[in-house]
Amino acid sequence: MPNLSRACLTLFVSVLCLLASACSPARSGGRADLLAGDWSHVPGATAGSGGVRIHGLGRQIVLQDGTGGQPHPPVNLRGPQLQVRGDFRVSATVHRPAGQTASLYLYGEVPIVYDEWRQMRRGLRITVSERALSLAVWDGGSAAPAVDRTAPVTAPATVTVTVERDAGDLVLSAGDTRVSVPDPGVFDAGSVMFGVDAVPGEPDWTLAALEATARDGGGVAVRDTRTAREPAPPSDSLRGLAEDAGRPLPIGAAMAAEPLAGDDGYRALAATQFSMLTTENALKPQFVHPGPDTYDFTEGDLLVDFAAANRMRVHGHTLVFGEANPRWMQQVAVADRERVMTDHVRTVAGHYRGRVAEWDVVNEPLSPDDDGPDGGPGLREHLWQEAMGESYIDKAFTAARAADPEAKLYLNEFGAEADGPRWDALYALVARLKERGVPVDGVGFQSHIHEAGDHIDPAQLRSHIADLAELGLSARISEIDVYGESPDVQATQFAGVLGACLSEPTCTSFSTWGITDRYGSTAEHDSYPLEPGDELPWDQLLREKPAVAALRDTLRAAGR
Ligand code: XIL
Repeated sequence: MPNLSRACLTLFVSVLCLLASACSPARSGGRADLLAGDWSHVPGATAGSGGVRIHGLGRQIVLQDGTGGQPHPPVNLRGPQLQVRGDFRVSATVHRPAGQTASLYLYGEVPIVYDEWRQMRRGLRITVSERALSLAVWDGGSAAPAVDRTAPVTAPATVTVTVERDAGDLVLSAGDTRVSVPDPGVFDAGSVMFGVDAVPGEPDWTLAALEATARDGGGVAVRDTRTAREPAPPSDSLRGLAEDAGRPLPIGAAMAAEPLAGDDGYRALAATQFSMLTTENALKPQFVHPGPDTYDFTEGDLLVDFAAANRMRVHGHTLVFGEANPRWMQQVAVADRERVMTDHVRTVAGHYRGRVAEWDVVNEPLSPDDDGPDGGPGLREHLWQEAMGESYIDKAFTAARAADPEAKLYLNEFGAEADGPRWDALYALVARLKERGVPVDGVGFQSHIHEAGDHIDPAQLRSHIADLAELGLSARISEIDVYGESPDVQATQFAGVLGACLSEPTCTSFSTWGITDRYGSTAEHDSYPLEPGDELPWDQLLREKPAVAALRDTLRAAGR
């Protein structure tokens, strides 16, 4: 082929890739400079002229009571992704000061992050220290690596390590040292995302070079996620129909940064079906405020930027909560808790001022026990309530209003859709807040339906929304997901709740708690392989369930 035509073809393919936001599978051959992409949004990493400096943050995900602690090493979610076909080699030049251990992760599937655990899927980790070179391989079947091999080395301060997929094996080498293990198909999905980590308290290490090359008929290509574009929404998308539903109603879902970065199908659904995004876990205190003086907005920013690029309203979840708090916060002395809570609210709401349209300021203030001493649920007992009593709610809302006067401020609760003691307690609580002049704008009805036979009566929900309107409060459906007793019952429930929201003018949005069972929050806790729930409108293979058609029909009917 003459050079000019070849150049045209390459250009044509590149433009197609850009439009489709993916270039897989990689064609034969190739070399990719993986440090050329974005490394500035990785927690603990600083990109500079000599490479990327990695500082150890010791990120952990803790259990609700503050115990446990699973390592949560940073993933470069905005950075280059490598597309691979057949055999390939990745080489990394590591500059490692004495005492430090450098870790580099290659993920074939991005981990799923819940708020008490991290589901590791397929990937590998290379670690280099003074005396050892190791290769750990996860096959998706266990939280622990399926293989973890170490070879003794005397590593110089600057060392180049390579990892190759080579005829069914994964081979790690540095100088003359080699570690080889059978490949359980870590990169079969065709793409690689990168992660880095360091030991906290030890001097930073530097990733001075990171390159991929194709081997023996294989192919590599790099995809720069900064240029990714989503497809246009189909004409019957939920968001499209909702814009035309008598009054425009934002239709949202809780979303997570990891699948938005690592799963094209998920990202396409997110962008095309929804006009609103709730930050699922990324802005919960344990993720956004990992140390007393450390905030980490990288994942929240990714979500907020994705929403802006796709014209979505952002609902921030959640400023104050009895759960999902980092261990250090759970250990704050009672006398310091008001300052810690209000600083947290001010800093997080202040960071997102003008970009997050509305917040769950207080999540789940009621006790889960409906049979409390006063004949209903009292306030949930937790660190904030213990220190300030009910006034923690007033203080949280006041701090949020001061930090972002334009944002709409919500109190979010579960189990209050039906008549009964939970609804009575919630109504009484918000009535007291209004009477005290607390700047609360609305109430979120989570609308989780998690058991067979459980259901929400749309008429009761409507009457609660109307009662709140009389107090001057908006309402929203904030977290609906529905146990899949049968696809039809599930569809009827989703549609009934949407119908209730559409018919009450003060219901400001309808949001599901997730999009697809592939990443649903009702998955069995920490089970390998993943045991997903079936509560969401799209199944594990991203196929629509009848619920999606039912939501569409409800929106169409409202538009007539
Ligand atoms: C859930 C998350 O989606 C999961 O990833 C996590 O493991 C547990 O919490 N009500 C809420 C949300 O307000 O914060 C919860 O989110 C779901 C119930």
